[in-house]
Amino acid sequence: MAARGEFSSKMAFVLAASGSAIGLGNIWGFPIKVASNGGGAFVFTYIVLTFLLAYPILMAELVIGRYAKADTVRSMLAVSSPKTRWLAMITGGWGMLTASLILSFYAIVAGWMIAHGAGSALDLVGISSAWLTSDSTTRSLVFAAVFFVLTISIIANGVASGIEKWSSRLMPMLIFLIVALIIYITTLEGAAEGWKVYLQPDFSKVTEPGLVLDALSQAFFSLSLGVGTMMVYGSYISKSENLPRLGATVAAMDIGIAVLAGMLVIPAMYVAQFNGVIIYDESGKLIESGRLIFNVLPSLFEVMGSAGIITSLVFFLLMSIAALTSSISMLEVPVAFASDSLNATRKKASWMVGGLIFALSVVIIYNMNPLFDMVVNFATQFSEPMVGILFCLFVGWIWQRNAILNELKQGNPELERSLFWRIWPNYVRFVCPAIVLFLLIRSFGLVNF
Ligand code: PHE
Repeated sequence: MAARGEFSSKMAFVLAASGSAIGLGNIWGFPIKVASNGGGAFVFTYIVLTFLLAYPILMAELVIGRYAKADTVRSMLAVSSPKTRWLAMITGGWGMLTASLILSFYAIVAGWMIAHGAGSALDLVGISSAWLTSDSTTRSLVFAAVFFVLTISIIANGVASGIEKWSSRLMPMLIFLIVALIIYITTLEGAAEGWKVYLQPDFSKVTEPGLVLDALSQAFFSLSLGVGTMMVYGSYISKSENLPRLGATVAAMDIGIAVLAGMLVIPAMYVAQFNGVIIYDESGKLIESGRLIFNVLPSLFEVMGSAGIITSLVFFLLMSIAALTSSISMLEVPVAFASDSLNATRKKASWMVGGLIFALSVVIIYNMNPLFDMVVNFATQFSEPMVGILFCLFVGWIWQRNAILNELKQGNPELERSLFWRIWPNYVRFVCPAIVLFLLIRSFGLVNF
């Protein structure tokens, strides 16, 4: 087994884990779900579910990962008992499969981001680039391939030089740009209506099964949970760090960016609508939801004149980088397993596994309708919460409580007296799995794959 790297500092982990959490889920996925679930009501439910369900599960993943210091399957085995080894293997394997499925659709959307960025770069030098922003199969194929090559090359280089170096030094720039755009958009006609929709929750809607299912899957997806990503990242954290605090920092950053992205995209939608772009069809349904921000934002950049071209270039470039710091965390899950198991070098494992997942993307690209939505829904609405429940079962019922305490105490000697330790163990034992299961069952008919 190859020697395991470790993040060099607390900051490095927070950046890498936030880099994983913050991505298309925040800026592409979150606004779509806000827009198709009536605005503020969704935002409210999503934030509540992140605190109530996602953060405790994030902690479960981090603690297992740091304890076992191995890939997901081996980590699950390390916290299992002789009688539950089979369940450990299913859990680790299911997580790994889910990470691969997510990467297969994520790379397609990330490819569109790169294509739009390249389109703006060409616009800047006066070359027409209609193909790059068109809706063509070849375009999706070419740019998904580009995105895969980038992702695989980084992962092939390993944690220290790969993930850490790339993770999110550019995040401050992304935040700055989004804030600047929010201020700009607020001055445009139509934005006020968007702000109203975003900020005024219609509380009668917050318990609708469809909305709650979307909020649940968004909370899991956005924090990169239920696939083993956070477990693998946890395995690279040094024993001297305070895990509950690290986890809370990552969760807070992730929510912050999602809420910020909503402040940009939702008002932008209403500005675009004011300018004649069709967003909702006659029945009030969002049209082509996956392409929402690719319709809305370019129309916003257009009204900005020549400054819009540069803004568009920077925006899509930063989005591509944010997507990359997430995609590497997905690919790391099966690659960690493959290089631990197959005795293959990291490089070889990365190209092999990455190549296989790319093949899946190709199949999806040629069958966008219905495969794209099917894979998204199966992975995010069903698999991630289910694997999350399994993680809770291990931490709550199978792994010895004392071992958990000892693991968490490293880097946090006062843990036993903390509020976290008083609540969390029983919470992941009973409350978390029960609520997630209840929400899944209640919305069962709504999961459409
Ligand atoms: N959290 C990432 C995002 O919001 C997506 C992701 C899901 C990353 C699962 C890793 C694992 O874009």
